[in-house]
Amino acid sequence: MSGKPVIVTLFFVAAIALAAIGIGSPAARAQDMGATVQWGGNDELGAFLVDGAGMTLYVFANDEPGVSNCSGDCLANWPPLLVEEGVQPTLAEGIPGRLGVIQRPDDGTFQVVYNGMPLYYWVNDAAPGDTTGHNVGDVWFVAQPADVSLGANDQLGPFLVGSNGMTLYIFANDEPGVSNCSGDCAANWPPLVVEAGSEPTIQPGLAGALGTITRDDGTVQVTYDDMPLYYWVNDMGPGDATGHNVNDVWFVVQPPTVAVGGNDELGSFLVGPDGMTLYLFTNDEPGVSNCYDNCAVNWPPLLVPDGQQPTAGEGVTGTLGVTERTDGTLQVTYDDMPLYYWIRDVVPGDATGQNVGEVWFVINVEGGMMEGDMSEDMGEDMGEESMGAALDGNALVAERCTVCHTRERIDTASKDQAGWAATVDRMIGYGAQLNADERQAVIDYLSSQ
Ligand code: HEC
Repeated sequence: MSGKPVIVTLFFVAAIALAAIGIGSPAARAQDMGATVQWGGNDELGAFLVDGAGMTLYVFANDEPGVSNCSGDCLANWPPLLVEEGVQPTLAEGIPGRLGVIQRPDDGTFQVVYNGMPLYYWVNDAAPGDTTGHNVGDVWFVAQPADVSLGANDQLGPFLVGSNGMTLYIFANDEPGVSNCSGDCAANWPPLVVEAGSEPTIQPGLAGALGTITRDDGTVQVTYDDMPLYYWVNDMGPGDATGHNVNDVWFVVQPPTVAVGGNDELGSFLVGPDGMTLYLFTNDEPGVSNCYDNCAVNWPPLLVPDGQQPTAGEGVTGTLGVTERTDGTLQVTYDDMPLYYWIRDVVPGDATGQNVGEVWFVINVEGGMMEGDMSEDMGEDMGEESMGAALDGNALVAERCTVCHTRERIDTASKDQAGWAATVDRMIGYGAQLNADERQAVIDYLSSQ
């Protein structure tokens, strides 16, 4: 590391904050000095976000996602964190969550937002480490990651992580709402806990619901879609997922690659694993992206790591696939059209890329998530299947459903079509690797048994 005193102090403070919660090694916390937003922290508040020079960053409870409600005198006391026009701010490695940029309506400057919330300094903070703005007026708080966010690594792609960026796991021997991991097990797999009475927070746009259960020792553990969440003691830094598949019962939680989102104006459309809007490009050809260089900077392709299948969330009825880009990365396709994000979208639900250049469009989902259209969807799927080569549901179950638990667990369950659809969608939420057609083939197979 460099010898600049400021850097050393910050590094040290962040290490203490992490040691206090017992997760992560200091070595994993080396600061990425080029980044716009970095880790800071102190004993009192734990880890929080700071700028490149170590000054504390705040969020304002009266703001709304993507909208600053602080101007005039407010802004004089709480100067916004700004970037030059066209500059994409960056998060230091391992900090979970998303940065974006909004243009301020008052003076046209470009303010950085974190998980949609505009970031500010506090005029009375004099030096790195100061947090004198925290709790001012009960509406200003140091900016901190949510309790559960989206992280990723090159092998697995996106998965859930804690506020410290460390990978979270679920345990196949747990049941919904019940932890069966205590004693030595919990020493190796520390539960993700929150203070009693506090509601755990999730990165905006992530599918799935958080809850809590009270453990035998009285601590409060966070659940995701009712499954208790844990860290793994052998993970050393953000991005490590060395607990995945341990004893065939521990695994990371991978949200579907493509899910259904939407907004009031455009209705239902496809979104990525982080809930951000996906687009197609009419200058592409089926299975071929024509968006590279600057285009791909503005329209980042939705990628999956080599060896991973894109997975479809509930209501995604088209066919998911991949196409290889010229740099060897694998871009997700929907009915053969390559999928992209748009760099100016700031919060889930934004679709500011719609109709840009009359060549970029959101992908509408017919009947997605609307109860009344279920029968129609099923008819479509059956039609598609009879046309294409039939997928072998039994083989898919044997291959993809036995990653986290035994086949017996499946064979001993008896459900109708809707019951299996719900179970398979829950499994996809845990990370079962099935595209839309495969999902349907598995459901059809299981409900015919
Ligand atoms: C990524 C890990 C993972 C994969 C892959 C997975 N499961 Fe599961 N499965 C779990 C976990 C965790 C539980 C226990 C919690 C629960 O029931 O939600 C479970 C429980 C079950 C149960 C018992 C509970 C119930 O609802 O009856 C069935 C049946 C089941 N899985 C079927 C499947 C099928 C079918 C597949 C393939 C489509 C599959 N699983 C793939 C993690 C997985």
